[in-house]
Amino acid sequence: MNLHHKRLLTLSIYSLEGWIPSSAFLLQWAGPLFRYPLDRVQLVRHLKRMADEMPDLFIYKAIDLENELVIGHGKIGGIDYKNNCGTLCRIPIGPPQRRGKGLGVHLVKALLKIAFEQLALHRVDLYVFDFNNEAIRCYEASGFKKEGLLREARRFDNGYWSSYIMGILEHEWRDYSGISQAS
Ligand SMILES: CC(C)(COP(=O)(O)OP(=O)(O)OC[C@H]1O[C@@H](n2cnc3c(N)ncnc32)[C@H](O)[C@@H]1OP(=O)(O)O)[C@@H](O)C(=O)NCCC(=O)NCCS
Repeated sequence: MNLHHKRLLTLSIYSLEGWIPSSAFLLQWAGPLFRYPLDRVQLVRHLKRMADEMPDLFIYKAIDLENELVIGHGKIGGIDYKNNCGTLCRIPIGPPQRRGKGLGVHLVKALLKIAFEQLALHRVDLYVFDFNNEAIRCYEASGFKKEGLLREARRFDNGYWSSYIMGILEHEWRDYSGISQAS
């Protein structure tokens, strides 16, 4: 797997088609940022934020090196350069039949390496709905720990969904990955 900044907007947007079948899935994947159906206008507006001199987000696509196909996306967002914190979000592996084969863990570990080594962050966190068991397992298998439950924080249809906040600190990531301290 290789991670690239999304410079090729058309390719990146095209590759999301068919990955987001419902408004419930859009909320599960992206939180309340986008409206369903997700379209080119919303995505381009979002991607443009990376052009800032000190961008507070970096968006990646994951490419299967065997066939050059896009098999996932991931974002390090909410970057706070004062406190050296960031948030992982918008992580799908797709198309859906590629899920459950270890790619998600591979992608999250690659994003953490960028966050801690290239962006020199101290803390990375994420939010995940409490029913999204495969995502929670994926994040735990990448070294994240549950830090708390935000009860009924998102409204959907006639109900509310709860999210876990999960986090990992740089030294925990180094211990977990067997990577020694940078000099
Ligand atoms: C969440 C997601 C990115 C994980 O990627 P993935 O490639 O499917 O995950 P992996 O194959 O790396 O598996 C990660 C763990 O989840 C487990 N898992 C896979 N499918 C599962 C399922 N249906 N239920 C419970 N656990 C599951 C795996 O066994 C593995 O755990 P292990 O390390 O203990 O064996 C992927 O499922 C996805 O794209 N989901 C839809 C979008 C989404 O919800 N994104 C997360 C938003 S917060």
